[in-house]
Amino acid sequence: MQCDRSTRTTSIYAPRSCTLLAVEELTPQEKLFRLRLDDGSALAHQPGQFIQVSIPGLTEAPISVASSPTRGLDFELGVRRAGMLTGAMHQLQKGSKIGIRGPFGRPFQLQALQGKELLLIAGGCGLAPLRSLIQYCQDRPEEFSAVQILYGARSPQDLMFKDDLENWQRSDRLSCRYTVDNSPADSCYDGETGLITRLIAADKLVPENCCAVVVGPPPMYRPVIEELRHLGLTGPRKIMLSLERQMRCGIGKCGHCAIEHLYCCSDGPLFWLEEIEHLRGAL
Ligand SMILES: Cc1cc2nc3c(=O)[nH]c(=O)nc-3n(C[C@H](O)[C@H](O)[C@H](O)COP(=O)(O)OP(=O)(O)OC[C@H]3O[C@@H](n4cnc5c(N)ncnc54)[C@H](O)[C@@H]3O)c2cc1C
Ligand code: FES
Repeated sequence: MQCDRSTRTTSIYAPRSCTLLAVEELTPQEKLFRLRLDDGSALAHQPGQFIQVSIPGLTEAPISVASSPTRGLDFELGVRRAGMLTGAMHQLQKGSKIGIRGPFGRPFQLQALQGKELLLIAGGCGLAPLRSLIQYCQDRPEEFSAVQILYGARSPQDLMFKDDLENWQRSDRLSCRYTVDNSPADSCYDGETGLITRLIAADKLVPENCCAVVVGPPPMYRPVIEELRHLGLTGPRKIMLSLERQMRCGIGKCGHCAIEHLYCCSDGPLFWLEEIEHLRGAL
């Protein structure tokens, strides 16, 4: 049978080529990659979506888009060196080519967030996907009543996006606080220390008009949710969170990322708390 090349190039299984425009070290484990599609088109993602990144000869890995679609043709990825694919990405130089599929997944529910006070809570590498929403909020301030960012990292050297954190703190459209779990005695860090839950407890929001978005490592979720409930964020559509599972296809076909009847790649990765809290192994 003859292969239909026109179908192959537009297939969601076929990677599209991108050029690496810039690489910046964010922390000793994380780098920021700025990319552009070689066909000149926009990625056309929504904040919260991910792409499947590939390097010829290696596997694929899902990586969230860390920049907002409101920022033009280029897009950015904040990538932690974890294994084979991300390790190889960390070796790439400006001008290198990578493949991408997507964007995939359920984004942040922007319509439901409109007019609300947003409490955006990130832990560790979770600031990468949240940065896409934060940039969107900066560019469309009229859509939200207030935006508060809370970020926690393990140590001062693990703080990602330090320049952004400073900009967000200076911004009159956002409020931003961050903390580290521990700061070594010889560190020149003079910011806040302690778990991120401390920042939430100290916070003052009107719960009736507030939505929280939480993206971080799994152990962060239960204590953060408890604090949010203390603040009065109860009931439907008050807390949205991102679940990460190992993925293969990224499009709801292989079942690799299933949590009971839900597929993280296509039903998520963003879920309202009430959609997943009763599912075994979700949190
Ligand atoms: C929707 C989604 C968005 C993501 N966004 C980002 C991002 O923006 N930046 C980033 O650095 N990483 C992100 N990740 C995580 C990234 O995809 C994994 O770290 C991936 O395994 C790296 O591939 P690798 O080949 O380098 O590592 P691998 O060779 O796959 O191994 C890395 C290690 O991580 C474990 N692992 C693999 N996948 C996951 C997972 N999903 N959750 C927890 N542990 C896992 C493996 O068991 C192994 O121990 C995301 C994952 C998902 C599902
Ligand atoms: S990764 Fe294949 S169904 Fe989700």
